[in-house]
Amino acid sequence: MKIIRSPASMTAWSEGLRREGLTIGFVPTMGALHEGHRSLIRKARLQCDALVVSIFVNPTQFGPREDLTKYPRSISHDRAICRKEGVDVCFEPTVEAMYPTGFQTTVTVPAIARRWEGEARPNHFAGVATVVTKLFGIVRPHQALFGQKDFQQSVVVRQLVKDLNLGIDIVVRPTVREQDGLAMSSRNVYLSPEARSRAVMLYKSLQVGAEVIRTGGRDAKTVRLAMAQVISQESTITTDYLVVCDPRTLEPVSSVNPRVVLLGAVRLGPVRLIDNLLVSVP
Ligand code: PAF
Repeated sequence: MKIIRSPASMTAWSEGLRREGLTIGFVPTMGALHEGHRSLIRKARLQCDALVVSIFVNPTQFGPREDLTKYPRSISHDRAICRKEGVDVCFEPTVEAMYPTGFQTTVTVPAIARRWEGEARPNHFAGVATVVTKLFGIVRPHQALFGQKDFQQSVVVRQLVKDLNLGIDIVVRPTVREQDGLAMSSRNVYLSPEARSRAVMLYKSLQVGAEVIRTGGRDAKTVRLAMAQVISQESTITTDYLVVCDPRTLEPVSSVNPRVVLLGAVRLGPVRLIDNLLVSVP
């Protein structure tokens, strides 16, 4: 496995493969790789001739009071996973290489990024959209894979690829979960043992919402209340949002028809968790 740090060398490698007519798969990450990343890497490995994983903790998607400095970093563990899964290149640029002096451009996807995570984390999606656009320009993949866990992020990325005619196939893969159902996330390491035992309540509340729909519930307010009731059983969990939305626009809907996404974000002390479920009306 090659480790490439310079954007110019990364592009040169990809262009060489493209000239040979080979397809390039790409999994962008911020490192601290877990089974969710591994499932994206495995899928990409099966679908593409060559595979690039980027490991870059992107400072521009963190707010001033967020966890940039203590974000989990585990580069040797990450490289070992990549090696084992047959990754061809680990792209590990420096912050200076990605944002050199004089860097000015920001990519925004205002309507999709406005609500939910966008409201809780101002500028987060501008940071994500900008770095993903840059990574696409550097890596020049045919296909890029993202996890459904960050549902709003995946909708933002699809939109920017469409709007900017980037011609990259965006594949969104199902959330990988712990045995009890907690969505895998690099930030789960922040959960204390007590918080960890309660963290699954977010997924449980989404499941209850999905069950209301499966058993005939069509009023979004009823679904929201059912989800909120699950969380209210745990006094130590506070809800940021639990909503029923159109999966393409992420706007809230009033009635469930025909396909919705249930989006949730909760806080357990200092840790904020997000999760979602896509539900189709039977
Ligand atoms: O999902 C992530 O890990 C990040 O938001 C991404 C897509 C790698 C951009 O920094």
